[in-house]
Amino acid sequence: MPKITYIEHGGTEHVVEVRPGLSVMEGAVKNNVPGIDADCGGACACATCHVYVDEAWREKAGSPSAMEESMLDFAENVEPNSRLSCQIKVSDTLDGLVVRLPESQH
Ligand code: FES
Repeated sequence: MPKITYIEHGGTEHVVEVRPGLSVMEGAVKNNVPGIDADCGGACACATCHVYVDEAWREKAGSPSAMEESMLDFAENVEPNSRLSCQIKVSDTLDGLVVRLPESQH
């Protein structure tokens, strides 16, 4: 199963196995990784699943859709590598993915 590393703002790392087909957000929530609120449950409607994709993984993780881009406007401290983690689908290609979590989702 693809392994994903979530790094909390304070530096704590969580390496979890996430089943392909789930989103990066679901991988965090199901494995009790703190720092992703996901208030809307993955509908691309809340921007509380904001993550920063590690530079080395930006291309493989893909670019945000127009809808995701417009929701990202509601997130704090958006950077060029910001994504909404409910919109990144886990696949074998993303085995090893590293994402960093923002200080806060609000
Ligand atoms: S969980 Fe709401 S936008 Fe991702």
